[in-house]
Amino acid sequence: MTKLRSQGWFGKTGKDGFIYRAWMKNQGIPDDEFRNKPVIGICNTWSELTPCNAHFRELAESVRRGVLEAGGFPLEFPVMSLGETLIKPTAMLYRNLMSMDVEESIRANPIDGVVLLCGCDKTTPASVMGACSADIPTIVVSGGPMLTGKYEGKDIATSDIWRFAAESTKGTFTDEDMREAEACMCRSQGHCAVMGTASTMACMVESLGLTLPGNAAIPAADSRRKVLAQFSGRRIVDMVREEMNISKILTREAFENAIKINAAIGGSTNFVLHLLAIAGRAEVPLNLDDFDALGSKMPLLANLQPSGDYFMEDFYYAGGLPAVINQLKDHLHSGVITVSGKTVLENNANAKIYSPEVIATIDKPFQENAGIVVVRGNLAERGSVIKPSAATPALMKHRGKAVVFEDIEDYHARVNNEDLEVDETSILVLKNVGPRGYPGMPEVGNMTLPRKILEKGITDMVRISDGRMSGTAFGTVFLHVAPESADGGTLALVYNGDEIEVDVEKKLLQLHVSEKELEKRRENWQAPDLGHNRGYISHYIKHVEQADLGADLDFLRGKSGNVVTRDSH
Ligand code: FES
Repeated sequence: MTKLRSQGWFGKTGKDGFIYRAWMKNQGIPDDEFRNKPVIGICNTWSELTPCNAHFRELAESVRRGVLEAGGFPLEFPVMSLGETLIKPTAMLYRNLMSMDVEESIRANPIDGVVLLCGCDKTTPASVMGACSADIPTIVVSGGPMLTGKYEGKDIATSDIWRFAAESTKGTFTDEDMREAEACMCRSQGHCAVMGTASTMACMVESLGLTLPGNAAIPAADSRRKVLAQFSGRRIVDMVREEMNISKILTREAFENAIKINAAIGGSTNFVLHLLAIAGRAEVPLNLDDFDALGSKMPLLANLQPSGDYFMEDFYYAGGLPAVINQLKDHLHSGVITVSGKTVLENNANAKIYSPEVIATIDKPFQENAGIVVVRGNLAERGSVIKPSAATPALMKHRGKAVVFEDIEDYHARVNNEDLEVDETSILVLKNVGPRGYPGMPEVGNMTLPRKILEKGITDMVRISDGRMSGTAFGTVFLHVAPESADGGTLALVYNGDEIEVDVEKKLLQLHVSEKELEKRRENWQAPDLGHNRGYISHYIKHVEQADLGADLDFLRGKSGNVVTRDSH
């Protein structure tokens, strides 16, 4: 091991060393803690405003125990936290801001290795993006999903919110029913209990090799979550000694594995945006077409909501992600190294399936060709994504007339109007919810269907937007259209009644309007006034990239490394 980075602070002599150590000593830390011990930062996204991460102080204690056991010196620090449920207008607006906090906090401080405590959706990609740009040894510990909700004798979790909302629109689910159901659903610590974005992210970091095996699915309330945190605390100390920086884990092969595994678990469409952004920071070449080429033909091996029937708790008891990875071994780069110091194959070689109704074998998958598909056409020249496993097969090849909403406020104002010209063959189009246009690309792409459609008993229609969809949602929903409408993409030029063709097999998203007419519309189009002329959001609007690049800020791509050359004392 070369000299520890932290010794550039604590190992100094003279006035500087005095200052670096003395103020730490006010915490009652003995002198020998500063001498050549790996200093491990515990990067904590704990916040009572991020309910999914509210148990992270306990989890940090387990990490701390592990670090001490292995001879390291743990120092916990807070970073910005993003709770999906409370942050307005959308947590995605702040993912890149949080990643800057993580990156700069790591680089600016005497840290040799870092444990990232992540849970609610954006806290995982933001933490990993920041860590990539700082590039020190890094291990991730996820907070774990909630226990499955129990309501009126049925298992429920976040995906049921969309069903309850549809029932409520029809008038068959009262406010009182809502209050009762919400208490029954969130009955333990942890993040959403389905294969939504948080669980997809927990699987993503395990697939990339950034966690110890088994991280993704252990429920937050299960004591084994703390054991994993303690083991991770031990392991990061050795990673520092082995100089295993995050850049050694995040190779192109690791990203390819993650795409294939995400397809097999029916992971969230948000995976695409976040993995692209992480690859951008890690300086690993990856583009939107890689998701289709590597993932779309993969079989579905996990029967989990929102694509399937079961919950994250069931997934863990059924064998969890290790069992899926073991089934996929012939599809994966099995020799890539992970934070455990072993390869992905070695980590998961003994993993078994305990419940075949939850995890399928590779020979008998729940569905063929289940991964995210990238479609293109004049309506999405730089691409749009759809998750076939959450869509209605009959609607994946469809032609219909557009019912256009200019923005989300327009949608809310008109969607349930009796005179809205819509039937189940129509295609709902929502504009101005992209990365710049909203701004922040909210999860509104799975628009709840118009009341008069729901009353007919119809549960799905084709929907198209430049926004995102919650990983807990479902439907035949085309998302992340790029270029977005606020940037003058063809989406901005769709008028009510235009004919649109979607064909997932042909990977097509086409607006059937002549080029001449589109040209005329383009001349009349006016870019929306996005407002926001000060602060972070104005900076975000100027610099955010389109969805096909991961919606990072252009100046955050790549890394600055972990060296700090100047010293102000
Ligand atoms: Fe935090 Fe779903 S709201 S993971």
